[in-house]
Amino acid sequence: MKFRTIRGTKDILPGDVEAWQHVEAVVRRVMQDFNYQEIRTPIFEQTGLFARSIGELTDIVSKEMYTFRDRSDESVTLRPEGTAAALRAYIQNNLGEQSSLVKIYYIGPMFRQERPQAGRLRQFHQFGAEALGADSPQLDVEMMLLPLEVYRNLGIEEFSLKINSVGCEICRPAYKEILQKELENVADRLSQESRGRIAQNPLRVLDSKDEGDRSATSHVPLMKDHLCPSCTSHFERVQQLLTALGLPFVVDGRLVRGLDYYTKTAFEVTSTALGSQDALAGGGRYDLLVEEIGGKPTPGVGFAAGMERLLMVMEKTASATQPLRVPDLYIVALDDASRRWAFVRGQELRRHGRCVEIDYLQRSIKAQMREANRQKASYVLVVGETELQSGSARLKNMADGSETTVTLASFDLPAIR
Ligand code: HAM
Repeated sequence: MKFRTIRGTKDILPGDVEAWQHVEAVVRRVMQDFNYQEIRTPIFEQTGLFARSIGELTDIVSKEMYTFRDRSDESVTLRPEGTAAALRAYIQNNLGEQSSLVKIYYIGPMFRQERPQAGRLRQFHQFGAEALGADSPQLDVEMMLLPLEVYRNLGIEEFSLKINSVGCEICRPAYKEILQKELENVADRLSQESRGRIAQNPLRVLDSKDEGDRSATSHVPLMKDHLCPSCTSHFERVQQLLTALGLPFVVDGRLVRGLDYYTKTAFEVTSTALGSQDALAGGGRYDLLVEEIGGKPTPGVGFAAGMERLLMVMEKTASATQPLRVPDLYIVALDDASRRWAFVRGQELRRHGRCVEIDYLQRSIKAQMREANRQKASYVLVVGETELQSGSARLKNMADGSETTVTLASFDLPAIR
C-alpha cells in the first residue's frame, strides 16, 4: 500500500523550503520594524469560537471547516484562520491589561476544506497581524502597509490594493434593508446561491463572482454611500493617509470579504500574476469582535496573507531563487581511522560555524570526490593513512582547483563567506 498526501495538502521539500524560510525571515523583520510581537496559538480550538466569530452563514463555517468530535466528545476545529484564535488568546491571557494597544503577528498553517485548485489548498499557510485596543484609521493603514512592505522587500511591485467600508452597527442595518428590497426586485435574475443570501447575508451578494449576479446588481446602492458620519470620516481618513503615503488604491464598493466580523474598513491585495485565486492578502477592522467572543469592548484591526500564493508570484517574477547553503568543507576519508578523525574534526569545525559534510557510506575516493562536487562544497580535504601519519594533508579549493598543504592538528578553513 502506498500512502500519499491528503488532497489539497503539500509537502514542502528541500530545495523549496529555502524560499519559505526567506519569506518567513522577511515577514519577521518587517513585523519587528513595526513593533509587532509574535503569538503562537494551538492549531485546533473549540468549534464555537470560529462559528461565533467568522459567522455561521459564511462559506468557511457552513461548508469548509475541518470539524470533528474528539474522544471526549468535544467538537473541535482545525483553525481556518488566525484572527479568532489570536483574539481568544488576547482575552484569555488578559493581554489588554498589560498594554492598552496590543500588536501581535503570527505565521502558520490554516485549514479549509475548499475545492483544491492552483493557489487554493486545504492546508495552507498565512502570515498575519492583529492590533487590539485602538480605533485609529492609522492602524487600518498600517495593516495594509505590513503585507505590502513584505512584498516590496521580496521584490514584488505588482499588486493592487482595494479598499471599502462595510459600515458599523449604526449604519449597516438600515443599508441592509435598502439592499434587501433592491435584491428582491431582481431575485429572479440572481444565481441560486445569491438568492439564498438575500434574507440573511445580502451584502455577500455584492461580491459574487457570477456574471449574471454582477449585471443584475450593477445598479444597487452600495454601503459606502450609506455610511453614518463616524464611518464616513473614518473611511475618509484612511484614504487621506494612503494618499499621503503615495500608495495607489482603488475604492471597491462591492468588496465585502468572506468573514462576517468586519466593521468599517475592509481591504484586499490582489496580484495580476495569479489566476482566479488572485487575493494575496485581506483584512479589515472588527470593532465588535472581541466583545462578541466574551472580552471587554475593544476595537481591533488586522490582516492575513497567503504564503503559497505569495510564493507563486515570486516564482513567476523570478524572485524565489534562494541560494542553498552548501558545505564549506567536505572531508574525504579513506579508512576507518581517517573516518573517525573526520567525524571528530568535522564536529569541532561545525561548532565554529562551518557547514561540514563527511562520507557515511564508505565510498571510494573517486565517489567521495564526485559527491563533494555534486554538493558544491567549497573545499575538500583528503585524509588517509599517510596523511594521519605525516600530520598534513592537501586542501583543495573547489572553485579554482588550487591546492594547499595544511597541518591537521591545527587545521581550520580559510575565511569563506
Ligand atoms: P482571508 O481573506 O480568508 O482572511 O485569508 C487571507 C489570505 O489567505 C487570502 O487572501 C489568501 O491569500 C490566503 N488563503 C485563504 N484561503 C486559502 C486557501 N484555501 N488556499 C491558499 N491560500 C488561502 C482571513 O483569513 C482573515 N483572518 C484576515 C484578517 C485578519 N482579518 C482581520 N485580521
